[in-house]
Amino acid sequence: MNQTETYNDKVVRQFTIMTVVWGIVGMAVGVLIAAQLWIPQLNFDVAWLSYGRLRPLHTNAVIFAFGGSALFATCYYIVQRTCHVRLFSDRLAAFTFWGWQTVIVLAAITLPAGITQSKEYAELEWPIDLLITLVWVAFAVVFFGTIAKRRVKHIYVANWFYAAFIITVAVLHIVNNLAIPVSAGKSYILFSGAVDAMVQWWYAHNAVGFFLTAGFLGMMYYFVPKQAQRPIYSYRLSVVHFWALISTYMWAGPHHLHYTSMPDWLQSLGMVFSLILLAPSWGGMINGMMTLSGAWHKLRTDPILKFMIVALSFYGMSTFEGPMMSIKTVNSLSHYTDWTVGHVHSGALGWVALMTIGSVYVLTPRLFNKTEMYSTKLIDVHFWISTIGVVLYIASMWIAGVMQGLMWRAFNDDGTLTYTFIETIAATKPYYAIRLAGGLLFLSGMFVMAYNMIKTIRGEAPAPVPVRQPA
Ligand code: HEM
Ligand code: HEM
Repeated sequence: MNQTETYNDKVVRQFTIMTVVWGIVGMAVGVLIAAQLWIPQLNFDVAWLSYGRLRPLHTNAVIFAFGGSALFATCYYIVQRTCHVRLFSDRLAAFTFWGWQTVIVLAAITLPAGITQSKEYAELEWPIDLLITLVWVAFAVVFFGTIAKRRVKHIYVANWFYAAFIITVAVLHIVNNLAIPVSAGKSYILFSGAVDAMVQWWYAHNAVGFFLTAGFLGMMYYFVPKQAQRPIYSYRLSVVHFWALISTYMWAGPHHLHYTSMPDWLQSLGMVFSLILLAPSWGGMINGMMTLSGAWHKLRTDPILKFMIVALSFYGMSTFEGPMMSIKTVNSLSHYTDWTVGHVHSGALGWVALMTIGSVYVLTPRLFNKTEMYSTKLIDVHFWISTIGVVLYIASMWIAGVMQGLMWRAFNDDGTLTYTFIETIAATKPYYAIRLAGGLLFLSGMFVMAYNMIKTIRGEAPAPVPVRQPA
């Protein structure tokens, strides 16, 4: 049977294209705020171009618009293929697409206008939150409806990760956004003080765990075996990985609130669960990596696999670094510094973005009935510029972060501070320039990808590869 008749690929195509569009927009804003940190005058004294307004625009655009569109696209693609059935409802699926794009556009208008709940990663005001809830419920109905009418008994492990992601994000979103509205653009959160902080970081940490991790692991469990043309290394490990990961993540949130008014035992609990979290995270990474055993040679010729394996390496790195940073004594150095920002982007660019890019390269020819991408060479070029971009970004932030932490805690013999705060900022400037260069490289890679995709979709013939004659 023709796959395009069997499956609803229209919505997958729409979300895939918007993944690239929002990736470019969100990262361009990231580059602009990186430039502003280096040269503050780049806010041009315009309120809506100011750093404080553009920063949440960046985080919302890259996490929810870029990452979110990628998650919708891959989830809809995978659940149909692994359940051998069309999506539960085409109309609801279309609603999730248009609803999610509306949320993004509303975010892009309200955040620069300064309309915000002031909760990190949950900045959007209550009318938009209500729309998100509706879209999410529709998403859950489409996903679980499709699982319910599947033609195969087995539920492939990727779907388990998507299921956990959908359910958990619903719970997190609703609880953390409980608020009393006072006008269309202003509300007051129900919680206050330390309770508000605790709920907020339970939300934000699990947004990392379920939005930026579980969903992308679902992607990994489908596309890595697909591209490597090998079965997943250990199915048993994937099941253990799933249960261990989702039951541990929930408890680790307090590591964001070390040395605050949070009870000390709670901080220690967060730290211990963060340390435990290393094990399931690495279990997943190893499972993905080892899928290539016996097929490592493919990395020499297949740049899409390179994207995925390097994404897994960054996943391993950031999930080693995270537990380390959650140790209170280490956190006393890293907290408030650019080390955190480096950690964030080794997960966000290294893991989330590279895995997304690899998956989009697998999806594009399949979704548009082509045999392959227009140019493999350009995928390889993209791979190298984005990898160098990530390395420049995170290495500069590590050095800057450790330097800031050490300068802040340096004392003279008489007990006064060795450095003023402004001296630490001046010392950081060169690293901000390096981060900007890394960001620009990563962003230019996204343009290379967009070009390659347009050529592929238009069906232009792949550029001929020169054949080297033996001497
Ligand atoms: C070209 C690529 C990117 C550039 C240049 C960039 C740049 C930046 C900058 C300058 C900040 C503010 C740091 C600060 O406040 O000190 C930031 C924050 C952030 N970015 Fe990006 N970014 C990029 C891509 C991404 C992607 C793809 C994601 C997620 C998938 C992401 C997620 C975040 C998050 C979560 C924060 C907040 C970090 C925190 O609060 O510690 N970024 N980014
Ligand atoms: C075992 C896994 C992980 C653990 C235990 C962990 C732990 C931590 C710790 C201790 C912090 C610093 C908190 C602070 O001092 O304020 C942090 C910040 C952060 N991490 Fe992770 N991390 C892990 C994996 C990841 C991954 C894979 C990503 C991204 C995909 C990520 C994204 C973030 C973000 C966005 C923040 C900044 C939050 C903020 O302050 O706005 N983490 N993480």
